Amino acid sequence: MIEEMKAILEKDLPLITNLSNASSVLNLMDNINWCGFYIAYGETLYLGPFQGDVACTVIPFGKGVCGESAKTKKTIIVPNVLEYPNHIACSSLSRSEIVVPIMKSDCVLGVIDIDSPIFNRFTDEDKKVLEEVAKLLSEIWS
Ligand code: SME
Repeated sequence: MIEEMKAILEKDLPLITNLSNASSVLNLMDNINWCGFYIAYGETLYLGPFQGDVACTVIPFGKGVCGESAKTKKTIIVPNVLEYPNHIACSSLSRSEIVVPIMKSDCVLGVIDIDSPIFNRFTDEDKKVLEEVAKLLSEIWS
């Protein structure tokens, strides 16, 4: 995953172009039904490039798993979204989720969001890899 990301990300391309191909690389993961990005403008997240069904377009910081990750600046793994009160159900198929903030210095640029149709899909190893992806993205973000 890291090598694939390094191969497709280019500093001179527009952000939307890089994130579009990055969403396709994320989609190589097994057992997922949605993957993509939300982009922060002020304290609001807006839907960015993604793979999967139509999704929520606007998420304030603090709301949902995405907004919570953006507000706390921490990766959140939700093993069972049905039991997570602060979860926004975009797809009725989703059962577990991981959200990783993309940071530059102390500023949240956006988040990586991935949903799975199975419970307990995301591991600490996924967290480690996706946090590395977030770091690569923050380096080309403009
Ligand atoms: N479940 C997310 C909303 C975005 S969709 O999963 C694409 C959340 O709780 O923030």
